[in-house]
Order: sequence, then structure tokens, then C-alpha cells
Amino acid sequence: MAPEADMSVIPGGNAAKITVPDLLQRKSWSAADPRKKKITCLTAYDYPTGRLVDEAGVEVVLVGDSVAMVALGYESTLPLTMEEALHHTKAVRRGVQRAVLVADMPFGTYHGDVNEALKNAVRFVKEAHAEAVKVEGGERRLEVIAKLVEAEIPVMGHVGLTPQSVHAMGGYRVQGKTASASEQLLRDARAVETAGAFAIVLEGIPRELAAEITRNVRIPTIGIGAGPDCDGQILVLHDLIGLTFHAPPKFARRYANVGEIISQAVRDYCANVQSGTFPSDTESYHRARVLDWEEDLAVNRDGDW
Ligand code: KIV
Repeated sequence: MAPEADMSVIPGGNAAKITVPDLLQRKSWSAADPRKKKITCLTAYDYPTGRLVDEAGVEVVLVGDSVAMVALGYESTLPLTMEEALHHTKAVRRGVQRAVLVADMPFGTYHGDVNEALKNAVRFVKEAHAEAVKVEGGERRLEVIAKLVEAEIPVMGHVGLTPQSVHAMGGYRVQGKTASASEQLLRDARAVETAGAFAIVLEGIPRELAAEITRNVRIPTIGIGAGPDCDGQILVLHDLIGLTFHAPPKFARRYANVGEIISQAVRDYCANVQSGTFPSDTESYHRARVLDWEEDLAVNRDGDW
């Protein structure tokens, strides 16, 4: 008998809103069970990118603290403030209807007092209408994750190459390469699960270790630079569409070159302005047909201008 259609996994389909409990059901992906398709996640940083990834069928939209580097031009994710993160989360929220919207908690907003962390997490839910928050770290974050979960805020964990630990790690380096580092990462992932997280990002670790962690936790694992055996995958949108100023990391597949498309469009526009071919007559209003364009404006711009 054909498996029952699961509308929640049909990209771009007229599908129902995806929820955190839906994601938990997607654990233990297996080719034998087509209803357990891998979870698709991407970052977004503003209204248009949020809307485009949501409408294309992505199931989890993360307003990553990578916004600091890819959209705000900072050297690392560390300078991002609560106010900046909230501002971007609110913009993405306006574009996302179907996917689960997760807000990344900025460095320093959940590392000290757990009540302070709770206050900050609540702001993402109350002010920016995020459905979940993400925090980096394993065993050390057990208490804070449990605190947020107790307050009914779903939490996504993140272990392995955690960019907020760039100085402690001595750079952006693949983690879990030795046996003892692998054991620690497995303990970290289990701690995140025990604390009550609903999913965990595994970043920059060997494929074999990601597979082992995936087998050993009951919550979905979401890989980035962690091989294909996780329960889902996430990428930084700008790496995928080619809107960065560096070569993409080894694990990121570039599906488009939007940076080049923008540059070419702007070069063409400048050339047209300077040669006098933009705007053309048909792109201009005419005194004699003022009634026509008043009608046009009324239709196209709600008569605003
Ligand atoms: O900030 C981010 O974009 C992330 C993901 C890539 C996991 O943390």
C-alpha cells in the first residue's frame, strides 16, 4: 500500500505549518520510511530571504548569528548584539509562515546567569515571535538549556565547531578528530538531549562521528560540515547562493552565483544611465496622458505616490 502522503514534507506545496513536535517525529530517517524525509534547514536574515526560503519549502529557518558576518560585515559572530539579532529576527518573521523559525542567541547573552539567559530568550519569542532559540555548547549549557525548556521555549543545541568559541578553539577548526575529542562531543550531544533540546546542530566534525552521534541521541541531528548521515542539513544561505566575498567552505555546495548576477545588473544599469538608454520613453510619464498614469499608480502602488 502506498505510504500516506505527508504534506508537511512537500517543498513549496500547499502544506500545513510545521511545528517543533513535527520535527521530533522526523528522527531516525531511513530510506525504508519515506515519511521520514531529512529535515531541510537554511539561514535567512531579512524579509525577502525569509520569505523566499520559506516559500521554496525549507522546514526550519534559522536567523543565525552568522548574520553578523554575512549581512553586517563583522569579522566574526562575536560582536552581534541582542538588539541587532532581534531586529533581523523580526524582519525574517514577517516573511516566514510555514517553517519553524529559530533565533540564534548572540554570544554573551546566555553564558552567565541563567535568569538573564531566560530573559533574553523570552525577548526572541515575545518581541520577534521566534518559535525556538539556538544556543552553542554541550555539557556546559545543560543548565541554561533546561531553564529555557522549563519556560516552554524550544531549544536547538549546537556542538562541534561552534563559531562563538573561535578564540577558545584557536580558529575555525574541524572538531572531534581524536578519540577523546569524539567522546567529549558524544557526551556534549547527550547533555543537550538530556537538557530537553528538540534538535541539535552538528557542525564541522568527521562524518563518522556525526553518524555515531545521530545513532546515539533520540533528537534529530542537523548537520553542517558533518556529512550526510545526520537527520537533516543546514547551510548558510549566502554560501548556497554565492553571495559572499570568500570561497565557499568545503562542505557548502554553491547552487547559484547571486553575487555575480547583482554585480552584472548594477554594471548594466550604470552603463544604461550613462549612455542615456535608461529610462526609456516607455519608462517615463507624459503630461498629455496624466490620467493614464494616475490610474496606473492607483493599481500598482495603492495610489501612495
Ligand atoms: O549562525 C549560523 O548560521 C549557524 C548555522 C550555520 C548552524 O549557527
